[in-house]
Amino acid sequence: MKKKADSNLLNDYHLLSYDVLDSTNEEAKRLAGGGASHGAVIWAKRQTSGRGRMGREWVSAEGNLFVSILLNIAKDLETCAQLSFVAAVAVAETLEGIIPEHEGIACKWPNDILLDGKKLAGILLESFTMPDESGKARQWVVVGIGVNIDSYPEHVMFPATCLKEAGVEIISAKIVLSRFIYNFIHRFDAWSKKGFKDIHAEWMERAYRKGEAIEVVMGEAHVEGIFEGIDASGRLLVRSSSGKLENITAGDVFFKE
Ligand code: BTN
Repeated sequence: MKKKADSNLLNDYHLLSYDVLDSTNEEAKRLAGGGASHGAVIWAKRQTSGRGRMGREWVSAEGNLFVSILLNIAKDLETCAQLSFVAAVAVAETLEGIIPEHEGIACKWPNDILLDGKKLAGILLESFTMPDESGKARQWVVVGIGVNIDSYPEHVMFPATCLKEAGVEIISAKIVLSRFIYNFIHRFDAWSKKGFKDIHAEWMERAYRKGEAIEVVMGEAHVEGIFEGIDASGRLLVRSSSGKLENITAGDVFFKE
C-alpha cells in the first residue's frame, strides 16, 4: 500500500538534466513561462551564473550538485516562504544519510546547511507569477539547492566545506540528487497536507547554536541578541538586550565567538 502512495507521489515529478546552464533557477523560470508543469526538477552538472541569496555568486564547478524544483502553489507568499525550511530539512536529512559522522550537521537561518559550522549547502527560494495558456495568473515557486560535494569556494563571507572534505570520497551529484528528491517529495507532501508544524520542529532540532549570541545584519541596519529560534512563519527570533523579541524576515546571521 505504502509503495503505491510513494509511486503516485513520484509521478508528480520529472527530471530535466543538462550539462551546463546559466542557473537552474533561471531555467526553471524560463520553463514556467513556456508551459512547464508543477514538479519539474532541473539539474545541471555545472552553472555559469549560479546565484545565491541577495544576488551573490554561487560558485558552480562540476562535481557539486545544482538543482531547482519548480512548484505551482496556490498559497500566499508568507506560507510559500516555509518551503525553504522544507528543503533545508530534506537536505539535512539527505546529508545525515550520507556522512557517517553527521552530528555536526545543522541548519542555520535562513537557508544554510552546515557541517561543523561550515557551509555545506545553500537554498535559494524564488517566487513569481506568470500567466498560463488561458491568461490566468499562476503562482510559481522555485526551490534552488546547491550542495558542495567535490569542492567548495575559499574566501567567501561564511567558511565553507564539502562532502569530500568530510571524508565522503565516492558519491556522485546524481546519487545526492536522487536521495534529496526522495526526501523532499515526502516532506513537501506532508507540509502540503499538514502545514509547517513538523518541519518547524525538525528544523529547530537541528538549529545551529540556539540560545547563543548573534548579530543579524540587514543592509545598513543590524540587531544583536540571543538566537531564540524561528516563528511559525519562519522569521528569525532574536531577544535583544532590552528583552524585546525581534522577528526578522531577511538578513545575514553572524555568531559571536
Ligand atoms: C545561498 O546560500 O546563498 C543559496 C545558494 C543557492 C544555490 C543554488 S545552486 C542551484 C540553484 N541555481 C542557482 O543559481 N542557485 C541555486
